[in-house]
Amino acid sequence: MLSDLDQIRQKALHALESIQDETSLEAFRIAYLGRSSPLMQVFDQLGKLAREERPAIGRRANEVKQALEAAFSTRSDTLRQAALLRSLQTERLDVTLPGRVLPLGRLHPATISLRAIVRAFADMGFQVYRSPEVETDEYNFGLLNMPPDHPARDMWDTFYTSMPEVSLRPHTSPGQIHVMRQYAPEPIRAILPGMCYRYEQINARKETQFNQLEVLAVGKNITLGDLKGTVSDFARRLFGQNIRTRFRASYFPFTEPSAEYDFECLLCNGKGCTVCAWTGWLEIGGCGMVHPIVLQNGGYDPAKFSGFAAGLGTERIMMLKHRIEDIRYFWSNDLRFLEQF
Ligand code: DAH
Repeated sequence: MLSDLDQIRQKALHALESIQDETSLEAFRIAYLGRSSPLMQVFDQLGKLAREERPAIGRRANEVKQALEAAFSTRSDTLRQAALLRSLQTERLDVTLPGRVLPLGRLHPATISLRAIVRAFADMGFQVYRSPEVETDEYNFGLLNMPPDHPARDMWDTFYTSMPEVSLRPHTSPGQIHVMRQYAPEPIRAILPGMCYRYEQINARKETQFNQLEVLAVGKNITLGDLKGTVSDFARRLFGQNIRTRFRASYFPFTEPSAEYDFECLLCNGKGCTVCAWTGWLEIGGCGMVHPIVLQNGGYDPAKFSGFAAGLGTERIMMLKHRIEDIRYFWSNDLRFLEQF
C-alpha cells in the first residue's frame, strides 16, 4: 500500500510537469485528486485495513495528498502567469499612439456668408429683424404696391398653398411692411435675412429655396445718396477698400426710383472672366427708394418720411466669392462640398 502511494505521487508529479493549459490541468485534478481517483480510494479503504497498518498508511496518504495539492496549485499559478504574460504581449496597448481625430462640426457655407453680411451691416448700425416665411398674398405683393393682377407679380414664381391668400414668401420684401408697422413712426435701420421659396425649374443657378437679405432704412431726409453710400460701403466692408460698385436703372413696384447694383467681379478684379461673362461686373441685387405707397402701407407719412431698400441673395455672394458653379450644392447635404468651408 505504501509503495502504491509512492507510485501515485510519482506518476502524478510527472504528469503535472507536461501540463500546459487550463483544460488539461482540470483533467489532472479530476484524475489525481477527484472523488474517484486512486488516491481518494486509498482514503476510502483505510477503514478496512488492519488496525496497526492504518496510521502509517493514513499519514502517507495525507502526505501524498498535500504534496499533490501543493504541486497542483504551483502549476496552476505558473500557467496563469504565463497566460497573463502572453496576453500582455499580444494585446499590447500603445498609449503613445496619437488619438483618432474626431470630425469637428462647422458652419454651413450659407451661414458663413450670412454672418459676414450681417456683420458688415451691423457695423453700419443696422439691426436684424426676422419676419415670417409664410405670408399672405397681401404682404407678399399687395402692400408692396402690387395689387391683384399686377403684371409685375409674374417676376416671382410663387408657391401658393391650399389655403386661399396664403403663400410662401418668394422674397424678403414683405418683411419691410412688418418692420415698418412695428416701429412707425420711429426711424428704422434694419436687415431682414431669411429663407425664400420659388416655384422654379431647378438648375445650376436656380433653387426652389434660397436665402435673401432685405435692407431697409426709413427716416427723415433719407436720400438716394444714402442708398448708394450704404451699398458701396457694404461692398467695401465685405470685399475690401478697392472694390468698385455701379448702379443701373431698373424697375420694382415697391421702389421709385429703382436700380440694380453690381460689384466689380471678385474673381478677375474687373478684368473680365467666365464668371462675369467678360463684363467685369457681377449682379448682386435690386434696390431703390421706398415707394410712397409702401411707406404709407407701413404707417409712415411719405410727405415727411423717406427711405431706401435693397435686397440680395446670400448664397449668391458665396458662389461669386468661391466660384461655386452650382447653387444646388447648398442644400444637397454633400459633405465633400460642405467640408471645404
Ligand atoms: N425683392 C426683390 C426680389 O426678390 C429684390 C429687391 C429689389 C428688394 C429692390 C428690394 C428692392 O428691397 O428695393 O427680386
